Amino acid sequence: MNAMNLQNKTVLIVGGAAGIGQATALLCAERGATVIVADFNETEGKATAQAANATFVRVDVTDEASVAAMCASIAQTHGKIDALVQTAGILKGAYVNLEDFEMATLRQVLDVNTVGSFLCAKHAKPLLQKGQKPAIILISSPAAYGVSSSYAYAISKGGVSALGTTMAGKLAPEGIRVNVLFPGGINTYMKRSVIEEDARRKGEDPQAAVDAAAQSGLGEPLGVARVLAFLVSDEADYVRGSVSTR
Ligand SMILES: NC(=O)c1ccc[n+]([C@@H]2O[C@H](COP(=O)([O-])OP(=O)(O)OC[C@H]3O[C@@H](n4cnc5c(N)ncnc54)[C@H](O)[C@@H]3O)[C@@H](O)[C@H]2O)c1
Repeated sequence: MNAMNLQNKTVLIVGGAAGIGQATALLCAERGATVIVADFNETEGKATAQAANATFVRVDVTDEASVAAMCASIAQTHGKIDALVQTAGILKGAYVNLEDFEMATLRQVLDVNTVGSFLCAKHAKPLLQKGQKPAIILISSPAAYGVSSSYAYAISKGGVSALGTTMAGKLAPEGIRVNVLFPGGINTYMKRSVIEEDARRKGEDPQAAVDAAAQSGLGEPLGVARVLAFLVSDEADYVRGSVSTR
């Protein structure tokens, strides 16, 4: 069987309602995976799940009880997962100066991006241990290396990278492969919001700025989804640590 075929894979995509997660849910389903879409946006999450012939589970990744309940529900319905793809994330505080940065914003972004990734990995681990060649894939960003409009986002993604590389070492002896993905600028709600924000503060037209960015190389979610679907597959067996995309 073609290893890129995901027919025997059960894949949990957290943050799967929109953007990169949504494209990944649809592509994994197209390649034969059993897909579970988890998100706190119920309307878009259910719509994506329906399009991917997937199960939808509502989750708020910042809330440990909610993440535990998501995994308990998947244990009941599916019994195991073979891959966790954690794409839930937010970007707040773009272009805010250090001296003006609100602690509430910092904590909110860390809670979703970093604590959320930790909680998903923590509670999904028992489900992964029942899977075949299990994999965890987290989404960091070049923001982790200092290319960011937001202090909070940069710090949060540094934490995601550290979590991923630490788990890669600690979980390898247990047979769980961990990868951290670093996408470039991708045309999603999150990225468009930042481009619009930048245009507004410069007194420019937000829509024109988004159009210009799309013209000059902003990537599409499907491009990243193809990489994520590969990382979910057994074909990625030898991939360790970090992977960058455009
Ligand atoms: N778009 C880019 O240019 C880009 C670049 C690098 C990294 N990333 C990362 O890729 C990932 C996906 O981002 P995207 O661009 O597709 O954004 P998006 O805004 O399109 O999608 C994010 C998803 O996360 C969900 N979410 C947010 N908070 C949640 C919570 N508390 N609990 C559960 N779900 C929650 C949202 O409902 C949404 O469906 C994020 O981690 C982001 O930081 C994006």
